[in-house]
Amino acid sequence: MSELIQEIQRRRTFAIISHPDAGKTTLTEKLLLFGGAIHVAGAVKSNKIKKSATSDWMEIEKQRGISVATSVMGFEYEGYKINILDTPGHQDFAEDTYRTLTAVDSVIIVVDIAKGVEAQTRKLMEVCRMRKTPVMIFINKMDRDGQNPFDLLDELEQELKVNVRPLSWPIDQGVRFKGVYNIYEHKLDLYTPSKQHVTESVEFKDLNSPDLEKHIGLSEAEQLRADLELIEGVYPEFDVNTYLDGNIAPVFFGSALNNFGVKELLDCFIRIAPYPRPVQAEERKVDPENDPMSGFIFKIHANMDPNHRSCIAFLKICSGRFDRNTNYKHVRHNKMMKFNSATAFMAQKKETVDEAYAGDIIGIPDTGNFKIGDTITSGETLHFKGLPSFSPEMFKYIENADPMKTKQLNKGIDQLMDEGVAQLFTNQFNGRKIIGTVGQLQFEVIQYRLLHEYGAQCRWESLSLYKACWIESESDEALNNFKKRKYQYMALDKEGRDVFLADSNYVLQMAQQDFPELKFHFTSEF
Ligand code: G4P
Repeated sequence: MSELIQEIQRRRTFAIISHPDAGKTTLTEKLLLFGGAIHVAGAVKSNKIKKSATSDWMEIEKQRGISVATSVMGFEYEGYKINILDTPGHQDFAEDTYRTLTAVDSVIIVVDIAKGVEAQTRKLMEVCRMRKTPVMIFINKMDRDGQNPFDLLDELEQELKVNVRPLSWPIDQGVRFKGVYNIYEHKLDLYTPSKQHVTESVEFKDLNSPDLEKHIGLSEAEQLRADLELIEGVYPEFDVNTYLDGNIAPVFFGSALNNFGVKELLDCFIRIAPYPRPVQAEERKVDPENDPMSGFIFKIHANMDPNHRSCIAFLKICSGRFDRNTNYKHVRHNKMMKFNSATAFMAQKKETVDEAYAGDIIGIPDTGNFKIGDTITSGETLHFKGLPSFSPEMFKYIENADPMKTKQLNKGIDQLMDEGVAQLFTNQFNGRKIIGTVGQLQFEVIQYRLLHEYGAQCRWESLSLYKACWIESESDEALNNFKKRKYQYMALDKEGRDVFLADSNYVLQMAQQDFPELKFHFTSEF
């Protein structure tokens, strides 16, 4: 096998997603500890913005600083190169998370045993389902009392709309938590609360052996046998390919805080999680192992220093090998460029990268050359698909509050939108600019950044809209007819695509009913 193929096949690029407080930061930290990427607990800072801090700008700035440091954490473990992509903790930045999910090859979802599936996880899972991303689930906080594990598995299936298959099984929970039976490796992992780590891991192929009682007690042994019998009866045999196709999610139980069950998760993960797989570009399918370097920008992070508008553009390499001092094509600009000071992300350090492989993420210093979704190749004209914009949930008119600074405001809006901070729609009827976001906090961030980075002042004017829908039709006549009828509600998105601004669900339904030749889409890619 060539060195290139070996390098690509040992890469595992994934994101951990969860509802805030389920334990994503804690789990990330434990994974980094295993990789030797950090040596003390507490080194990974949570990038959560505390709820109380909605208008605490220091907090937002801090968060931006932390999130660039922890955006990508790469480390080596057992011969594998692991890249964890961080996702913002705050739900108002969900759009950022959606985009990050386009750059990963698989996902680990963390669920709190007591809280079960929460809103944010449900939404993120929808994106995984859409993209057929393989998902593993870690049920966290087994040292606390929570739901019956069987009920939780049912809830996962119903709420996340994915089939699940436990690969480990808890022995009781809360203060009575004894550990887990590792179904995948036929081992009994015993938990000792005071020691806070796995004290004993016993090979245990025959669960009917009376030794089981010695390890975990009589009633627990009986319960475990009954549970496992039920599991084998109810859930299909675990099949790696079904997981890789995104059709079944293996489930592990543990406690991230106590570093229990984390190594088991990681060991199974490196074995079954996918290495970079072929990626569909508009022109053709790109093969990571056999095609020359190609990749796309999925995230742009503005510099913290407001006096220098320089950013870091995050490039996910989809195929081949990236080399420093080599010319690559910026497809949108149709221009060859060299990236001499691109950086790799190894845990929290950044270092200049000489070479990187499909699966890796590199940071390219940018002075405004890049937009989210830009493709970089070795020379071919390719456009990667799969970076959809989702219909925002909140809309506001953005108005200039300082007429002397119109140019600065327009430039600021333009660049912030290229960075993917929010979405811009221009109403075709009155020419007014509308900003669409997922949450209130984004409006505050935009206002703050316009002022501090561009010296521009904006005002928000409320606008009650239900959804922005991208419309299309095979019939130009039908499309034009609709646009004429709804001219007050037609807008263009930043790419110049037609968008219908529906102010209520009812209006949207009526439009769908009255214009059957039109398709209404809630994401920009269809
Ligand atoms: P997040 O990134 O998903 O938002 O969650 P994070 O890891 O920050 O964890 C949220 C809280 O849950 C933290 O407590 C953390 O210590 C706790 N936690 C994580 N894993 C476990 C576990 O396995 N068992 C128990 N009992 N708790 C767990 P906190 O009090 O909010 O923060 P901290 O003061 O401990 O940092």
